[in-house]
Amino acid sequence: MVQSPTTIGDDVVMGPDVMIFTNSLSFFSTQVPMIEQGYTKPAGVIIGDDVMISSRSIILPGTKIGKGVVIAAGSVVRGKIPDYSIVMGNPAKVVGRRNHPEDN
Ligand SMILES: CC(C)(COP(=O)(O)OP(=O)(O)OC[C@H]1O[C@@H](n2cnc3c(N)ncnc32)[C@H](O)[C@@H]1OP(=O)(O)O)[C@@H](O)C(=O)NCCC(=O)NCCS
Repeated sequence: MVQSPTTIGDDVVMGPDVMIFTNSLSFFSTQVPMIEQGYTKPAGVIIGDDVMISSRSIILPGTKIGKGVVIAAGSVVRGKIPDYSIVMGNPAKVVGRRNHPEDN
């Protein structure tokens, strides 16, 4: 299996059982058992600096997580996650933004 690189920034913290995937099993053909179809083209994952990935979260191929993001426990994350956002759920949605009075 060819693995696309995953980039993990500085000061990233992860809880237990976090899973990061950069490809999936292919299921294009209905004529060939999926176990024989190999893998999809790898799509790397990028995780910015100072990100918190809580326990049992799953990061799907091609995900880009911005700087300072908080990912709640058990989230399934895909796509582009904006800097300093708070995301949760399956599929993970942005529910808020980290903010501190000194930021304003
Ligand atoms: C992300 C987190 C820090 C948010 O904590 P918080 O700000 O105290 O949030 P609250 O408990 O007040 O919940 C706020 C809302 O988010 C929802 N929520 C919180 N955590 C959630 C999760 N993991 N998945 C889905 N929804 C969640 C709550 O149901 C609540 O929704 P409501 O406003 O509709 O009632 C916390 O939920 C979490 O996931 N902590 C990580 C625990 C962990 O994995 N620790 C190991 C070390 S990282």
